[in-house]
Amino acid sequence: MTDTTTPAADSVPLAPRGWPLLGHALPLLRDPLAFIMSLSGYREMVRVRLGPSSAVMICDPDLTRQVFLNDRTFDKGGPIYDRIREVIGDGLSTCAYPLHRRQRRLCQPSFHPARLAGYGAVFARAAEAKSASWRDGDVIDVTQEMMTLTTRATMETMFSGALPAETMRRSLADTAVIVSAFFRRMMTPALLRKLPTPQKRRYDRARERLAATIAEIIAERRADPTDHADLLSTLVAAVDEESEHGRQQLTDAELADEALTFFLGGMETTAITLAWALHLLATDPDVQHRLKAETDRVLAGGKLDPGHLPSLGLASRVVTETLRLYPPAWMMTRVVREDAELGGVRFKGGSTLVLSPYLLHRRPDLYPEPDRFDPDRWLGAQPDRATYIPFGAGARKCIGDQFALTEAILALTAIVDRWDLSPVGDQPFKPKVETSLSSRGLRLRLTERRRGDADAPLSAAVRPAARPGAAACPVQHGE
Ligand code: HEM
Repeated sequence: MTDTTTPAADSVPLAPRGWPLLGHALPLLRDPLAFIMSLSGYREMVRVRLGPSSAVMICDPDLTRQVFLNDRTFDKGGPIYDRIREVIGDGLSTCAYPLHRRQRRLCQPSFHPARLAGYGAVFARAAEAKSASWRDGDVIDVTQEMMTLTTRATMETMFSGALPAETMRRSLADTAVIVSAFFRRMMTPALLRKLPTPQKRRYDRARERLAATIAEIIAERRADPTDHADLLSTLVAAVDEESEHGRQQLTDAELADEALTFFLGGMETTAITLAWALHLLATDPDVQHRLKAETDRVLAGGKLDPGHLPSLGLASRVVTETLRLYPPAWMMTRVVREDAELGGVRFKGGSTLVLSPYLLHRRPDLYPEPDRFDPDRWLGAQPDRATYIPFGAGARKCIGDQFALTEAILALTAIVDRWDLSPVGDQPFKPKVETSLSSRGLRLRLTERRRGDADAPLSAAVRPAARPGAAACPVQHGE
């Protein structure tokens, strides 16, 4: 029950620069990050309009945490999840509260720390193979390269064993089409979304084909139920003692939704985290140099393996800082299930709330010099649960957080151990804002590292030309 004397949500200040009819859809589509950051002056919440509907953006870390922790009232929903649900059905990340706990219990064993050690070995192998595939002087499309790396690693940890090259290529292309279409579809009114445009046809085709590929793999696995020590085996075997009779295991349809959820949820987010980390290292030769020194010390000429993780402190801080600057899930939505109060405001059931890690992570009162890449801000400091939220929080917190961190730290180490990274051109690189904060189009130059040279600074050949603010985060918020 909410107190009717509490101010209603329409008392929340409305963001400026809204257009008649369209509301804030234009600035949100044109430069979403600039728009979000223009709202950072609102300390608690602010209203934004998308056509006829409006949503309240939560700007305060404690209120954000309250929303995360009360997932019964502030449930998964809103435009982001409606679009994601089109692709992955009612998988763990999209299902509503009543379905969630059972699915989480069934999926949790797949991410048990004991399983992670095995996955770590796969990640290290996949990263070394990717790193070995490049040639001295190559200019690589970093996002594309990281996507093939994480697709391969995810496929192997999920389905143990490489898929045929053609299946792999097709799945990668289909995934790219789906993820790049999400954001536009999210912002497009329902009627326009149904128009049979070439983009919609491409999107539908990719969605159906990827689902069919996963269904095929599941059918093969059902026919041969031996434990392959992979994610799919754990999912197939998972039993939920707390579920009522007959619903203790995942059905084939549920399995397909979960597999697709892990696949899409895991590989793009981790790939772009890695791409951003490599970009930040390329623009900060000092951190890159120190990371190589750490790699030399820890590997000591041996092969990378998950046992090295506790000693890779700087690599881990680089990943933490990358996720602060470029949280792939830069914005999340929630739907208020029943009338509720939050921060002294009364929300009607059905209202949409927007949460933004990007906004919190770049607030100067929470992070001094927020746009600066500074992995050492994490030296001896644990990320704060309210102000650092790249994986969300509460019962819906990312189930794959440790999986992703393990993969990213090992991959970064394998790459930096072998390559000096430098930027191509001197233009600052801006994220492509989609459902995630994409690094699409980012290119870097690779120079084979001279061995036995860890104490020397990076060679002049790969050191980017000094320019003002080169160590600062090169993202510009526009306007
Ligand atoms: C750097 C990489 C990753 C980032 C930044 C990330 C981020 C997130 C965030 C922010 C959420 C919460 C969304 C919300 O509350 O609205 C989430 C949930 C989820 N993530 Fe991740 N994720 C990453 C990697 C992964 C991986 C590797 C997997 C699986 C292999 C995965 C699977 C999931 C699933 C299944 C959920 C839903 C959990 C639930 O609702 O119980 N993610 N992720």
